[in-house]
Amino acid sequence: MSGLFITLEGPEGAGKSTNREYLAERLREHSIDVVMTREPGGTPLAEKIREILLSPTDEAMAADTELLLVFAARAQHLAQVIRPALKRGAVVLCDRFTDATYAYQGGGRGLSEARIGVLESFVQGDLRPDLTLVFDLPIEVGLARAAERGRLDRFEQEGHDFFNAVRQTYLRHAAQAPERYRIVNAAQSLAEVQASIDALLPQIVELCRG
Ligand SMILES: Nc1ncnc2c1ncn2[C@@H]1O[C@H](COP(=O)(O)OP(=O)(O)OP(=O)(O)O)[C@@H](O)[C@H]1O
Ligand SMILES: [Mg+2]
Repeated sequence: MSGLFITLEGPEGAGKSTNREYLAERLREHSIDVVMTREPGGTPLAEKIREILLSPTDEAMAADTELLLVFAARAQHLAQVIRPALKRGAVVLCDRFTDATYAYQGGGRGLSEARIGVLESFVQGDLRPDLTLVFDLPIEVGLARAAERGRLDRFEQEGHDFFNAVRQTYLRHAAQAPERYRIVNAAQSLAEVQASIDALLPQIVELCRG
């Protein structure tokens, strides 16, 4: 038996965390075994790497350092949480995964997709998400929502061009593999976003039941 790997993607403030909870509740109503987790992080050690990635620092972090830290955290998360959960047949709902690496370190920082792809294969083997929900919204709307939370993290301090590249990378990847991605209009009210998730629920439940 093997479970189902669902990822939630999108820029800051798009509603990934809020709607991860919502989707988990809906799936549990169908008696589905759901494991909720997030990246970077998801284990105590990987959360320490998250701290390094998100904390603003005086020393500029080289783009390659950032990329390797992201994948170091991911290797730990896969070993400790994601692979064991999938093995026992659970549905893993993960807030960000490698699509975020393509968007932020690829689109945002300008690292090549080929280079990211090498690490993706190295760390994940052939494991890829079965389904990815991309929460899409104009970057100003997301940043305004994120700013309400207070102090900006190392990524949130980036500028318009960075976030525009992040958004465009998500949309381009989604367009290249429409069978794996569903785009959710995250600029709508929360009630409308959740109605969009409800509309996807039957196909998600069917996928979960395999
Ligand atoms: N559709 C919505 N309309 C208005 N506010 C929303 C909506 N969805 C989420 N929010 C609010 O916006 C803020 C950011 O939402 P959330 O934390 O879920 O986003 P996120 O995608 O997880 O962001 P991050 O990438 O920074 O973790 C929260 O305060 C949340 O309550
Ligand atoms: Mg979040």
